[in-house]
Amino acid sequence: MGKGIFYKDYTNESVEVCRDLCNELMAHQAKHAIKAKELFEKMTFENRLKPAFEQATAKSLLVAFHEETPVGYIFLTADTISKKVKKHRPVWASGFTKDSNGLFPDWLHTPAKIATLNSLYISPDYRGNHIGKYLTDHGMNWMNNESGAEYFFVYVSNGNNVAPLYVKLGFKYSHPVFDGVIDAYYIKNN
Ligand SMILES: CC(C)(COP(=O)(O)OP(=O)(O)OC[C@H]1O[C@@H](n2cnc3c(N)ncnc32)[C@H](O)[C@@H]1OP(=O)(O)O)[C@@H](O)C(=O)NCCC(=O)NCCS
Repeated sequence: MGKGIFYKDYTNESVEVCRDLCNELMAHQAKHAIKAKELFEKMTFENRLKPAFEQATAKSLLVAFHEETPVGYIFLTADTISKKVKKHRPVWASGFTKDSNGLFPDWLHTPAKIATLNSLYISPDYRGNHIGKYLTDHGMNWMNNESGAEYFFVYVSNGNNVAPLYVKLGFKYSHPVFDGVIDAYYIKNN
């Protein structure tokens, strides 16, 4: 399966290349979610990846192709989190308990430069062939050496079994986001 796979940096290209893969990832999250399933069912390329790609101050998008077909991607961002951004609750989170943590933990001092592993997805037929490894190696390298971030965060939707992979990469559990609908993991960059 390694045959015919190649990787292309799309950071300065159109994110459109990931439309179908992103929609598959959103469907995967919705399918496995136990809490707030309806929230995940509303997530799409148009309302998640596209705006995140357009709004990030610093980012990296690496896409895996099999011949001409995109079969996986990793997307990372880096932004400075102000006190206001830390406290901000997105519209979709208005239904959660007021004192539940948002995307960032209470202990995070602000302003803080944060890198986020926004998304990682490999098409089912291509899993188990080290494509994820190649993409996460790139992601860790980018966060360590290019992002300039003090902390790296990754968010795992409830019902998804991918957390052990992030723990293997060095992430530690941070906190439950919005009543545990998502779990946040982090690394402090030394
Ligand atoms: C998770 C995912 C990206 C892994 O991609 P992949 O190409 O199959 O992974 P690889 O073949 O490169 O495996 C890399 C390593 O991670 C391990 N791994 C893969 N998925 C794992 C998981 N869910 N939990 C723990 N370890 C995992 C592999 O065993 C392998 O370990 P090794 O290097 O010690 O052998 C892929 O299964 C996927 O897209 N899953 C669905 C989407 C998803 O959950 N994305 C994360 C959203 S936060």
